Amino acid sequence: SLPPATPQYRPAYHFSPAKMWMNDPNGMVYLNGTYHLFFQHHPDGMEWGPMHWGHATSKDLVTWQEQPIALYPDSLGWIFSGSAVIDKDNTAGFGQNAMVAIFTHHSSPEEKKKTNKHQYQSLAYSLDEGKTWKKYDGNPVLPNPGIQDFRDPKVSWNEVAKKWVMTLATKDRITFYSSANLKDWTKLSEFGEKLGAHGGVWECPDLFPMTLNGKTHWVLLVSINPGGPNGGSATQYFVGQFDGKTFTPATTTQKWVDWGKDNYAGVTWAGTGARKIFLGWMSNWEYANQVPTSPWRNATTVPRDLALKQVGSEIYLTSTPVKEVAKLAQAGQTLSNLAVKSELSLTDKIPNLAQQFQLKMNTRQLQDFALVLGNAKGEELVIGYDKQANHYYIDRSKAGQMAFSDKFAGRHPGPRVATGPAADLTLLFDAASVEVFADGGLTTMTELCFPTQPYTTLKLKSSSGLSVDALTYTPLKPTAK
Ligand code: FRU
Repeated sequence: SLPPATPQYRPAYHFSPAKMWMNDPNGMVYLNGTYHLFFQHHPDGMEWGPMHWGHATSKDLVTWQEQPIALYPDSLGWIFSGSAVIDKDNTAGFGQNAMVAIFTHHSSPEEKKKTNKHQYQSLAYSLDEGKTWKKYDGNPVLPNPGIQDFRDPKVSWNEVAKKWVMTLATKDRITFYSSANLKDWTKLSEFGEKLGAHGGVWECPDLFPMTLNGKTHWVLLVSINPGGPNGGSATQYFVGQFDGKTFTPATTTQKWVDWGKDNYAGVTWAGTGARKIFLGWMSNWEYANQVPTSPWRNATTVPRDLALKQVGSEIYLTSTPVKEVAKLAQAGQTLSNLAVKSELSLTDKIPNLAQQFQLKMNTRQLQDFALVLGNAKGEELVIGYDKQANHYYIDRSKAGQMAFSDKFAGRHPGPRVATGPAADLTLLFDAASVEVFADGGLTTMTELCFPTQPYTTLKLKSSSGLSVDALTYTPLKPTAK
């Protein structure tokens, strides 16, 4: 039987399954005005187990409708993570504009013991926009050469090679493959054995081009677990060139998509053209199976628009909440020219703090600050900046429930990447999560929190003194309750 229900932690504008377990977003593809989101799902339990692909759809990225399960385990194994493409030219022969899912089949542990070949890549397709699915009868299409971790294919059409390119996580590196028909795959190259973070296994990659000042750069996302900058799961990225065969990073600087503890396995939507929309799993393998919610466990991050930005000689990825979030905006207020000397309560100015809101803060002169959300129980969620260390941080060490895991509580820093004195901060709060986008999304942090009572108070603290040019509070309309 399930633990007592926790509707107070149900995210409103983030997707979570009505019931039971979810992890990675999968097969995200945009078709005919609909954003499809598939996801790792265990429909029979609130913990990770036999994996299915759940399915949800949205017209606007903030209102989600859960759909019937798309892919069930079969004789070849459980259905692990992967991607989906629209096969416009019918290269695979399933039909024009078939929606084709390319995923990892994960077979029994017995098989793993025998050969290490228990993960291999397979296809399924849908001719009715994701409603019903058929597995390809020639599965698997990419057998395992004997690598224990061989999974999470992200496939996209490569204009240079005029072929499909598969970016696959292969233990401690990425292996690229190409195919003309999604069925026959040829190995192209490997990347990363000696670069990037290696505190854990590489998982859930993505590879896509983006332009900056008219020049094309290729971005390679690689999730790793464990080994994240604040412990457990996290997603690193590389910026460089991909010539249709080989990925070459421009520099060796270690970069993270998000410094918070709860943004993992994120990849981008297929089919959105030059617009690159990213979505992650808002949890961490350190405690994903224990978070105190019911009758579901885990949710996605807010979808984010990605862009590139040059700082010094480095090119960074920026993430900002998709503009569609503005659709949820309700009447709020802007407070101008706030002078914070040690502590300023904002509770009388923002008396009925919503359980879903956006906060934007601008300052011409960034100084130490702590933005504190609190409740009558003395629980506090703190989002701040430490000038000495030059990092932003989220401190959830007193934010509410934490006994479910000794890896949950803590103060987690994210280095500031931007260099000027002026700073902007966008914060998105939903029932049990906060997402922080600093300096136009150059430093991003996502974390969960489980207050035992809703946060009702808001204050700004600054040991050095801080002038806030504008602070805008916008309650967001719940969409999913
Ligand atoms: C990442 C991951 C993937 C795998 C899936 C299994 O969180 O471990 O590598 O395909 O989850 O559910």
